[in-house]
Amino acid sequence: MKVDGQHTRTIWLEPDGWSVGTIDQTVLPHRFARLRLLTLEDAARAIKTMQVRGAPLIGAAAAYGVCLALRADVSDQSLERACATLLATRPTAINLKWALDAMVAAVRNQPREARIAAAYRRAAEICDDDVAINQAIGRHGLTLIEAIAARKPGRSVNVLTHCNAGWLATVDWGTATAPIYLAHDAGIAIHVWVDETRPRNQGAALTAWELGQHGVKHTVIADNTGGHLMQHGLVDLVIVGTDRVTAQGDVCNKIGTYLKALAATDNGVPFYVALPSPTIDFAVSDGLLEIPIEQRGAEEQSTVTGRTADGRIETVQIVPDGSAVANYGFDVTPARLVTGLITERGVIEATRAALAEAFAERAAAAE
Ligand code: MRU
Repeated sequence: MKVDGQHTRTIWLEPDGWSVGTIDQTVLPHRFARLRLLTLEDAARAIKTMQVRGAPLIGAAAAYGVCLALRADVSDQSLERACATLLATRPTAINLKWALDAMVAAVRNQPREARIAAAYRRAAEICDDDVAINQAIGRHGLTLIEAIAARKPGRSVNVLTHCNAGWLATVDWGTATAPIYLAHDAGIAIHVWVDETRPRNQGAALTAWELGQHGVKHTVIADNTGGHLMQHGLVDLVIVGTDRVTAQGDVCNKIGTYLKALAATDNGVPFYVALPSPTIDFAVSDGLLEIPIEQRGAEEQSTVTGRTADGRIETVQIVPDGSAVANYGFDVTPARLVTGLITERGVIEATRAALAEAFAERAAAAE
């Protein structure tokens, strides 16, 4: 997608052909800063501190983290250590494990002298595949938006989204945002309600920024506003991303997603989840029981960071000294609350049968 009119992906190889460039998402929207990863430790730190975040981009960054580790040491032990280090960075998004498994499969049986090239090839492929997958998600999701637009000529289609499942969370296009960008580019009047997404404000800081860069009309709302908007007919559909979808169609995504699904169900608003197939975890069924939910540092909850009137970036405390705080990163929306899954192979039901049929090779491999 575009930054100041220039096409940019979220991750790339630098001109030296081996170090990895990415965007530091912790300083957006106030500053657009690039980051250069030189070592496995750099990649792991970038993922852990959420300079790089969003399930598909975490997978892509981890793939390049393996490349950087192999550059330093091409042995089996180095490969294992790299995977263990990267896997420990963030527990919920399954794309991380998927990408590490893909890297191990590409490298393990190669002779030592071929390993580094094989790793960089596979990492580049993971990135290119992500872009193609998101474009396909966009095309399938576009049909849903077109159908709504046809029912309300002359009026905007209102989409509500949560967190950032935009191009910043992927290599390009985004998952939840790909249909939105395609609809906007096709001339459909579209407006996005952007949940601010406390505590880290990925909606306010990242989704709003990228929609703005692309010229898509949007309004940032407090997380608790969605239900009210839905009760008043101001949301036509919800599209969110996901960090893991189980074999039975349960959806794990940023904390607060479940409440949006409840409100959508109560108000008859379609609730769609956009996902690339690497986000499906056929090894787990019951999302509530089986998906590990990341708990992050208390300071994310007890503070807010923003720009002061004179342009300084400041972090301020918003809770009393001594109050306990909890910071659950994700929640699980049961499949029964999901209208449909927008995948690269079409819009399917959030059911075990539909997932197994659409992604038969992945389902069989998990048996
Ligand atoms: O904690 P984050 O910012 O990595 O969480 C991101 C989300 O929850 C996204 O919705 C999800 O990863 C899908 S991104 C296409």
